[in-house]
Amino acid sequence: MKIVRAADYEEMSRRAAGVIAAQVILNPASVLGLATGGTPVGAYEQLAIWHKNGDLDFSGVTSVNLDEYCGLEGTHPQSYRYFMQKNLFDHVNIPAENTHLPSGTADPAAECARYEALINSLGGIDMQLLGIGHNGHIGFNEPGPAFERDTHAVTLSAETIHANARFFVSADEVPRQALTMGMGAIMKAKRVLLVASGTEKADILDRALNGPITPEVPASILQLHPDLTVVTGGI
Ligand code: PGA
Repeated sequence: MKIVRAADYEEMSRRAAGVIAAQVILNPASVLGLATGGTPVGAYEQLAIWHKNGDLDFSGVTSVNLDEYCGLEGTHPQSYRYFMQKNLFDHVNIPAENTHLPSGTADPAAECARYEALINSLGGIDMQLLGIGHNGHIGFNEPGPAFERDTHAVTLSAETIHANARFFVSADEVPRQALTMGMGAIMKAKRVLLVASGTEKADILDRALNGPITPEVPASILQLHPDLTVVTGGI
């Protein structure tokens, strides 16, 4: 495990973007596993700047995102498809047909099977970007009795609904269900890049990286990943 401790959010974002850019430069046909949430936004901004300046080419890249809310169309402003368009895809030259997220409006069981098969058909993920939830979730792999391997439907925890309510008018509007990539695809990614910012993430990050490996702290499984880079900001 490699830990990069940046002083603040801006430096964390630049450092994380640098890791992703290096991946794309070394392998222009990379399959990138991408994440939503507040933490990666600055890294996506930096990637867009490097692309605009002519230094980064996404034309050969394919992306698979971690998760999507059930019930939201991709045009819904709080859907993760919309988030990805607004924060990254609209600003770089990744071909639209190569950007993948689970569909929040398809039949959940069929969609989970389709998404799992899609990831496999791409040969898995070259680099997976992850944030970490206050409860230790990665993607929407919430704390529970077991690690779940494949893409699956989840009922979001009260803590996640509370944390994500800031993006909605009220907590009542946060969807209760989501589809998420499972731990299998994340752990099989050749490289994993975890970003975490702010002192409010310090405790859960410490538990994830140094505590027991347990599905009650889903990110703790990353201790077993052979190529994990953690970039923190202000922690
Ligand atoms: P955040 O979310 O980046 O908005 O803190 C992280 C996560 O829930 O995975």
